Amino acid sequence: MPMTLEQARRLAEERLSEKRFQHTLNVCELAVELAKKWGADPEKAALAALLHDTAKELPKEEMLHIIKDNAIMARSAHLRPSPVWHGVCAAILARTEWGVEDEEVLSAIACHTTGKAGMSLLDKIIFLADMTSAERTYPEVEYLRRREHEDIHQAMVEALEMNIQWLEESGRPVDGESCRALQDLRQSIGG
Ligand SMILES: [Fe+2]
Ligand SMILES: [Fe+2]
Repeated sequence: MPMTLEQARRLAEERLSEKRFQHTLNVCELAVELAKKWGADPEKAALAALLHDTAKELPKEEMLHIIKDNAIMARSAHLRPSPVWHGVCAAILARTEWGVEDEEVLSAIACHTTGKAGMSLLDKIIFLADMTSAERTYPEVEYLRRREHEDIHQAMVEALEMNIQWLEESGRPVDGESCRALQDLRQSIGG
């Protein structure tokens, strides 16, 4: 049986702190709004949003176990920076434990932290909804909220550029997939 939105909501509530659950609900609300605006499936957006951070509060060792036990799906995620792991793990759990089979939903969950080359509209919606959810307060967030309603593809480029810049400024590693995502997005917009 595929997972219902109510089941996904309950699962997120069980697995997350109150604060992160509220973040999840905010991501969900915005993702549905963006899906309606840009012509993606609002149900898929809601499901991906509700599940996107469901592995975030697992201990690192457990995430590594999930990655090693599901090597084909995980594609060597253990070699990527650790902040990336929770999306990959949530997608693996969604597929193997929670009966989610929709590849679009699984992709959006897996790449919500970094983007990837060849992002779908749903991938972009979840990435941006996560980065601009209602509780976020960083200086550029209002600008991004406006941009994602004007041009979601351009907003995705700008969001990823900001992301990479913040990581570089704070000396944290940038995942190779983010660089490939940016390259690919610039090409598809320019061409
Ligand atoms: Fe996340
Ligand atoms: Fe999140």
